[in-house]
Amino acid sequence: MKEILEKIRAEAMEAISSSAQSLEEIRIKYLGKKGELTKVLRGMGALSAEERPVVGALANKVREDVERAIEKKSREMKEASRALALKAEKIDVTVPGERFSVAPRHPLSAVQKQMEDIFIGMGFEIAEGPEVEKSYYNFEALNTPEDHPARDIQDTFYITDDVLLRSQTSPVQIHVMEEKKPPIRVISPGRVYRADEVDATHSPLFHQCEGIVVDKGITMGDLKGTLEAFAKQMFGEGTRLRFRPHHFPFTEPSAEVDISCFVCGGKGCRVCKGEGWIEILGAGMVHPNVLRGCGIDPDVYSGFAFGMGIERIVMAKYNITDMRLLYENDVRFLKQF
Ligand code: DAH
Repeated sequence: MKEILEKIRAEAMEAISSSAQSLEEIRIKYLGKKGELTKVLRGMGALSAEERPVVGALANKVREDVERAIEKKSREMKEASRALALKAEKIDVTVPGERFSVAPRHPLSAVQKQMEDIFIGMGFEIAEGPEVEKSYYNFEALNTPEDHPARDIQDTFYITDDVLLRSQTSPVQIHVMEEKKPPIRVISPGRVYRADEVDATHSPLFHQCEGIVVDKGITMGDLKGTLEAFAKQMFGEGTRLRFRPHHFPFTEPSAEVDISCFVCGGKGCRVCKGEGWIEILGAGMVHPNVLRGCGIDPDVYSGFAFGMGIERIVMAKYNITDMRLLYENDVRFLKQF
């Protein structure tokens, strides 16, 4: 029996070290309930009383040895596979990373942001208004009579008879004056819509920035000073302003405002088309009818307002001759800013 036990041990050890079978298969084969060792132990009844403890002790020793060998082998295999994995997953921290391309701000957004910063610096707040607007806010409340050409269906996108896509940011003035009482100092940049064909200087969607100040004793001098401070920060210290009389229904008096050309300084060049001046906005003193309509007494308060096209300013600033470039999202164009 001893020889059988020794043979079992030798076989099991050989199987373990040769890795020909899985360790679990080896365990079942030699140590399992129906395994080789169990078979031997079952036959112990036939042994003499002296032999039995000797063979029993040897059998236990064989079981222990085989168990230990299996455990050792299993530990070695785990370690080896771990070492292999570590080797395979090694990270080379010196390999260059993937480059993310960060988009610069779109020139329209960049200029709008710059405008906001300049006016915030002068104590203005930013207001937003709806792009789908009641015709009351876009026209009536802005003192714009029924027969005004801007109200034509050829010029404005109507949704119903009295709902439309705002054709200017001026209706935000009305919302602001309805909501709060003077002193008011607000700008409102945003999208506006007009029934224009697309060409180098027109688009059915473009951007404006409205401004309004209402308080006691506001004069045209305040308007000029504010716009001059803005223009100098936007276009350079040497910038001069020119006010030309004009008509807007919601301001009286009204003016169109030009800046001296920031390329030639006023001598005349390609950017200003030989004029020396570039028109940038409309402005004026808020019409008493507009104030009154918002419940503000024009005998106590006065105000100025202005509205500028953001595209126009972007195009002037960067000498862009075709407005469509601003909407095409061509990275070759956008990367230049
Ligand atoms: N809303 C005018 C336009 O679209 C621009 C404008 C002119 C706005 C004079 C004003 C203003 O607030 O006072 O042409």
